[in-house]
Amino acid sequence: MKLTMHGAGYVGLVTGACLAEVGNDVLCVDVDQRKIDLLNNGGIPIYEPGLTELVRRNEEAGRLQFTTDIEAGVRHGAVQFIAVGTPPDEDGSADLQHVLAVAGNIGRWMDDYKIIVDKSTVPVGTADQVAAVVREALAEQGRAVDFDVVSNPEFLKEGAAVGDFMKPDRIVVGTNSERAAKLLRRVYQPFSRNHDKLILMDVRSAELTKYAANGLLATKISFMNELANLAELYDADIEKVRIGIGSDPRIGYSFIYPGCGYGGSCFPKDVRALSRSAEQIGYQAELIEAVEAINNRQKEQLFTKIASHFGAAITDKTIALWGLAFKPNTDDMREAPSRSVMESIWAAGGSVRAYDPQAREEARHIYGERADLTLCDSADAALDGADALVVVTEWQEFRSPDFDAIKARLSEPVIFDGRNVYDPATMRELGITYYSIGRGAVVA
Ligand SMILES: NC(=O)c1ccc[n+]([C@@H]2O[C@H](COP(=O)([O-])OP(=O)(O)OC[C@H]3O[C@@H](n4cnc5c(N)ncnc54)[C@H](O)[C@@H]3O)[C@@H](O)[C@H]2O)c1
Repeated sequence: MKLTMHGAGYVGLVTGACLAEVGNDVLCVDVDQRKIDLLNNGGIPIYEPGLTELVRRNEEAGRLQFTTDIEAGVRHGAVQFIAVGTPPDEDGSADLQHVLAVAGNIGRWMDDYKIIVDKSTVPVGTADQVAAVVREALAEQGRAVDFDVVSNPEFLKEGAAVGDFMKPDRIVVGTNSERAAKLLRRVYQPFSRNHDKLILMDVRSAELTKYAANGLLATKISFMNELANLAELYDADIEKVRIGIGSDPRIGYSFIYPGCGYGGSCFPKDVRALSRSAEQIGYQAELIEAVEAINNRQKEQLFTKIASHFGAAITDKTIALWGLAFKPNTDDMREAPSRSVMESIWAAGGSVRAYDPQAREEARHIYGERADLTLCDSADAALDGADALVVVTEWQEFRSPDFDAIKARLSEPVIFDGRNVYDPATMRELGITYYSIGRGAVVA
């Protein structure tokens, strides 16, 4: 099938490449000339495991192409996927300008039946807005062409996006059109080999399903972080509590890790957008608001511990920071907890030596050159001349470091662990002062 992907970011590029992999002829359109040039010259703009090989293989097979030519994009696909960003606007609502710009483009150039598939995460009612914009663009030219707008939220996880797309848990399709449902069933049939993954529903329920999923996952994290803070006050160990509750199959082990707050391109903005869109229809989503407030507070936890350890001396301290990306296996730093920690250290007068296996370029892009940030090429190099180590992202390579080398390189053996990757008893044996989340401090 001929498919068009509007937006070649984390979602659009992965989705486009995976749809090409199963034999479709996919054209990815993006307004970012730099990104398209890079893709057309053999580069990949993001780090995502397995993506480079997938993109190259399908490009070489002639099934995957990249362009900034919007008209060509609209003419190409019978199915037009919208996978552009929906960042928060000033009040936290989802900013729909990119989604509606694509809708306008589709209306301007389409000359036969199109299925417009909203993959971006958008508030309930957006499909109606997309349809209105397409109709308006057609009307401006005095034309009437048939189309359907479908909601098809994406559930892939950065860091495991290719696998998630190729082997989805479920594919949610929201449409009231039988014609659109039939075509999308064909598009997704290759990803439903062992059983039918497609869950068909009405458009609004599909739009809400995405916010429900991210809202619930964020709620689990904030709940655990709230409990972690209580555990510290009660002198209990949140990791024991986690195992004690995770073993209950009604609760399960996933998304109950205490830490220094969730970040990324989805949870923070989706939680915020859900409460703002509730507000707009006159409903106060108190639980969701609390989830956001707890997370904002949690992102301050690591710095609070650093500040209380060093006191006023923080002004001339250098902190080694391991992990810039908002989670392992990605280079994405959108709303990453590392940013809150670094910015607080800088505001207090300290400086940072940071290392991340993939996100250094992204950090350079965000912060540019500054005297109080050194981006290091290795975890060890980040420790040189530093006064303490902060672990913000639980990359595999940080899980079992050479603690003797850490002690030798740091001016003072102190670790602040925002992901509870180390064992307090081991830290005590090694003579390392150790602060983690929801567990008592170890003072060497
Ligand atoms: N990143 C994730 O893990 C994830 C997962 C599920 C859903 N989502 C949702 O998917 C959407 C896209 O997220 P992302 O992380 O891929 O964003 P992104 O910022 O990585 O990519 C968006 C791309 O859209 C392009 N774009 C903007 N306006 C355009 C236009 N008019 N025409 C063509 N291209 C245009 C941008 O240049 C950019 O390359 C968001 O709504 C997000 O909430 C993201």
